[in-house]
Parts: sequence; structure tokens; C-alpha cells
Amino acid sequence: MATTTPAPTDPTSTSERAPIVLAVANQKGGVGKTTTAVNLAAACAARGFRTLLVDLDIQGSASAFLGMSPTDDEVDVARCLLEELPLSRAVKPTRVENLWLAPAGERMSLVDLHLASVYGRERAFERSLASCSPPGVSFDLVIVDTAPYLGLLTVNALVGAQKILVPVSCEYLPMLGLKLLGETLDRLRERAGARFDVLGYVLTMHDKRERISLEVEQLLRNRFESRVFDTVIRVDTQHKSAPSHRRTIFEHQSEGGRGREDYNALADEALVRLGLVAKAARKKPTKKPAARPKVAAKK
Ligand SMILES: Nc1ncnc2c1ncn2[C@@H]1O[C@H](COP(=O)(O)OP(=O)(O)OP(=O)(O)O)[C@@H](O)[C@H]1O
Ligand SMILES: [Mg+2]
Repeated sequence: MATTTPAPTDPTSTSERAPIVLAVANQKGGVGKTTTAVNLAAACAARGFRTLLVDLDIQGSASAFLGMSPTDDEVDVARCLLEELPLSRAVKPTRVENLWLAPAGERMSLVDLHLASVYGRERAFERSLASCSPPGVSFDLVIVDTAPYLGLLTVNALVGAQKILVPVSCEYLPMLGLKLLGETLDRLRERAGARFDVLGYVLTMHDKRERISLEVEQLLRNRFESRVFDTVIRVDTQHKSAPSHRRTIFEHQSEGGRGREDYNALADEALVRLGLVAKAARKKPTKKPAARPKVAAKK
């Protein structure tokens, strides 16, 4: 793939530590979780961070996105969870330098039911993830794509994560779903001993010409303030065509395209928030961060 920017810090300095685990989650369907998980992982990999993308969705969309859906006889994430295997057994290199994938196959649909009867069922993924590095590789970052419901698989992703990134699409009524997600996160902290923080909320499918985008942005920034990323992911039809060609946006779109620009900017901002890149080293934003939108009062 074409590289974007050089790594702002020496990523090898972080490789001795356990990787940071970032789950991309929102139980609402179609908000851009998979698009964000795949392209954010690719952008971090392009910056030199050894990145593992884990597909923890029964739809296996992240695996299909990269053209790496597993066959029945391959070890995938589902088999690791069903047979209590280390996740490293499922990890495969991708064609993108510094990017590995733990893919999900059809057996994922069995995992929720199986986990329901397992002792320590909320921590099955965390146990498997404890050994995620194949020989000779040490990951800096693990990015987990999750399913559009708050079942045991998603609970496992959240409990296994240190940071949560929440994509919010610019449609009506996002706050109802975010309230439910917030309550679930609180309950997992209280009852399952989860230790994650919300890294941030990121607006997706944003179109500044549409009133709804500005309204959702204003609502989110008023409610969550600095927890909302400056970067917004703009609507771009190339995000729709990239997965059908099994390509990340960086492979699919030529340099200067808005999809690439947005995910590069998101990676720069996320890496600072994760503490993997010093603030001063962050690449200058390619565009001004979105100013707080002013939405005229409805008449
Ligand atoms: N910025 C964008 N502009 C235009 N289309 C987008 C954008 N981001 C994602 N899409 C498209 O929107 C649809 C939903 O995106 P995606 O699959 O990433 O969401 P999801 O939250 O993972 O969905 P699910 O809940 O089903 O897992 C896909 O067709 C995707 O190509
Ligand atoms: Mg998805």
C-alpha cells in the first residue's frame, strides 16, 4: 500500500509493552464501526505501529473487507473462543505492512451461546488475547471490531479493552443508543471489573451541507465535549466501494482523497490520545478541525 506519513515517534520503543487494546463499539448497526476499525488499523500500521485487527463480529465484515474470510479448517477467532486457544493461533499477516488480522468465520454465530455456559464468560476474549503475538512479532496496538448488539461477544470485547472508540453516524436519534451504551459501560465497570475508558466519540458519514450532520455534531460536542474527536469522518462513496474490492481506503483511493485524509487525521489524533505519539509530534491536521457547528434554531 502507499504509505501516508512516517511514524512520528519510534514505534519500536513501545513494542516491549503489552499492546494497547482499543475496541470500536456501538450497538447501533451501520454506524461505521468496521470501516473505522479497518482503516484506522491500516493508518496506524502505515505509521509503523505493529497493529493487530481482531474481528469479533459474527458477520465477519472486517475479515471480508480485507479479503481474508477464513475457511472452515482454519483457526479463527471463534475457534480460539470455543476451544480456549491463544489468539495467536488465529493471527495472520495481511498484505498491508505492519498489519495482522485475527479473522472471524461462520462459527462466530456459535460463540455467544457457548460462552453463556462458560465460567468467567465475560473474560474469555481477554484470556485468549493474553497470548496474541505470533513468534517474532510484538504488537503495539490491538483494534477490535465489534458486533451491532450488546451480546456476550461485544461484552467480551469491551471487558478485554483498555480504550473504547465509539463511531456515531450523523443520523437522527443517536443519543438514545449512546445512553444505552453508556449504561452498559457503567455496568461492566461496576459488575465485571472492566477497566476501560472511552477514548472518544467520532462522527461518521458527516456531510456539512446537511442540517442533520450539524445537529448531531452539536448535540454530541455539547454532551461529550473534548471526548468527541476533532476529526470527523466525512461521507465519501469510496468508503462504500472499497470493501467490495477488498481494499482499505488507502489502497482504494488516490492520495488527497477525503476518505484517506479523514482516517489519517483520525489515526494521528487517536495515537496522541492513546499516548503512543507525543502531541508535538502529531502531524499537522490536513484540514482545520471542525469548528463547533452553529445550527440555526428551528422556526
Ligand atoms: N464515511 C462514510 N461515507 C459513506 N459511506 C460509509 C462511510 N463509512 C461507512 N460507510 C458505509 O456505510 C455502511 C456501514 O458501514 P460499516 O459496515 O462500517 O458499519 P458498521 O457499524 O460496522 O455496521 P454493522 O453494525 O452492520 O457492523 C457500509 O456500506 C459502509 O461502506
Ligand atoms: Mg461492522
